[in-house]
Amino acid sequence: MFCLAVKNKKSVYYVDMEQGNDLMEKIVSLCKRRGFIYQGSEIYGGLAGTWDYGPLGVALKNNIKNTWWRLFVEGRDDMYGIDAAILMSPKVWEASGHVSGFSDPLVECEKCKRRFRADQIEVGENGIQSCPDCGAKLGASRQFNMMFKTHIGATEDESSVSYLRPETAGGIFVNFKNVMDSFHPKLPFGIGQVGKAFRNEIAPRDFIFRVREFEQMEIEYFIRPSEWEAKFEEWRAAVHEFNAAIGIPKAQVHELEVLQEDRAFYSKRTIDFEFDFPFGRKELYGLAYRTDYDLSAHEKGSGQHLRYSDEGEESFVPHVIEPSFGVDRAVLAVLASAYTEDELGGEKRVYLKLKPSVAPVKAAVFPLLKNKPELVAKAREIYIALKKEIPQIMWDDNGNIGKRYRRQDEIGTPWCVTVDFDTLENGTVTVRDRDTGQQERVSAAELAKLFSEKIKV
Ligand code: GAP
Repeated sequence: MFCLAVKNKKSVYYVDMEQGNDLMEKIVSLCKRRGFIYQGSEIYGGLAGTWDYGPLGVALKNNIKNTWWRLFVEGRDDMYGIDAAILMSPKVWEASGHVSGFSDPLVECEKCKRRFRADQIEVGENGIQSCPDCGAKLGASRQFNMMFKTHIGATEDESSVSYLRPETAGGIFVNFKNVMDSFHPKLPFGIGQVGKAFRNEIAPRDFIFRVREFEQMEIEYFIRPSEWEAKFEEWRAAVHEFNAAIGIPKAQVHELEVLQEDRAFYSKRTIDFEFDFPFGRKELYGLAYRTDYDLSAHEKGSGQHLRYSDEGEESFVPHVIEPSFGVDRAVLAVLASAYTEDELGGEKRVYLKLKPSVAPVKAAVFPLLKNKPELVAKAREIYIALKKEIPQIMWDDNGNIGKRYRRQDEIGTPWCVTVDFDTLENGTVTVRDRDTGQQERVSAAELAKLFSEKIKV
């Protein structure tokens, strides 16, 4: 069961940190070793707050994003998908309030000059905040705007300033009118977008949890003001539906009602969906009732009519419910809940118990013996036929069968298909299940159908 808790400014939730950190180390190490996630710019010593997804990481991430898109955009008649530019007119962020208000409190150490987020540093008994690195006194707190500034074109002056978007939502609000004019939707309807967002976080931390470049999957669901409570509840349930679809267990997700003083400047109600990460219970996604704040602000800023009316009705600015999902946090929650250590056949093993629908490799195909050309040829034939039907299939003929199983377990491959001498006789193969290690013989011709049914969301 998930629970609803009430947050106040001082609330901190910790799980066993020693165990948690140990688990994080194992996850980070597996991600690097097996090609899921690498430190950004690693060969140059790394760039703080950036991570690169490797071949298996990008496949896992795409599977999560595709699940979201299918569930919330393609799967519904009241949703429209867009892909807006990351660079936008600076007027967008002036109107939305981000230029003046999108900031975190920053403190600087008076001695070593390192900078920290003031709200993440404990206040000592003497009422003073000390530097976590050198222990010296920290200076007074000031607001630090988190938007990345850049310049458009060849001139670098105030007139060419632009920002990398700090949330994908901005691109949705400025396209409200376009979608209205092209499709004439009736309220309620939503616009969804998946894409990059950038924040100059003062203290990026916890692997891909808090980074400076990340991805969001966001929906602005436009409604009549009178229906906000009902629609808020619908989206609240939809968030859990999405988690179930990607394999995040309900028991590890907790709803937290955010108090007014902790809410973003635009929100009248916010629920944070928190997850029990190995380093503590922290925000996974957010659900906010942004009222008509954004469309009204953009109407004022742009001078355009951002209104809605049914026939004979006086026009009004729609209100909006915003479910906002962090892609990278979803990836981390999926990895953390899938990471499993057990013993199989008397041997210790590590495996990712990923839902087949999100697993980066659905099945690995291998010949029992690498040095038997007839087995290799048959296995290649089966592999190619299967890959045509299900693209996320891997060929593996390195090492002995035991080693191949362990390698596939570690990356979360649900099934391993072995082609042996019986295959040459009767066209059957063995299919080994990742979680139980059990094998069954099935006809090679049935593999695509068998796996397709099991990987359906
Ligand atoms: N449009 C609303 C919005 O952006 P937010 O709570 O600031 O709200 C939404 O961000 C989600 O984006 C978060 O719940 C989280 O999943 C993700 N997110 C925010 N900042 C992030 C960061 N620095 N690194 C990784 N993910 C982040």
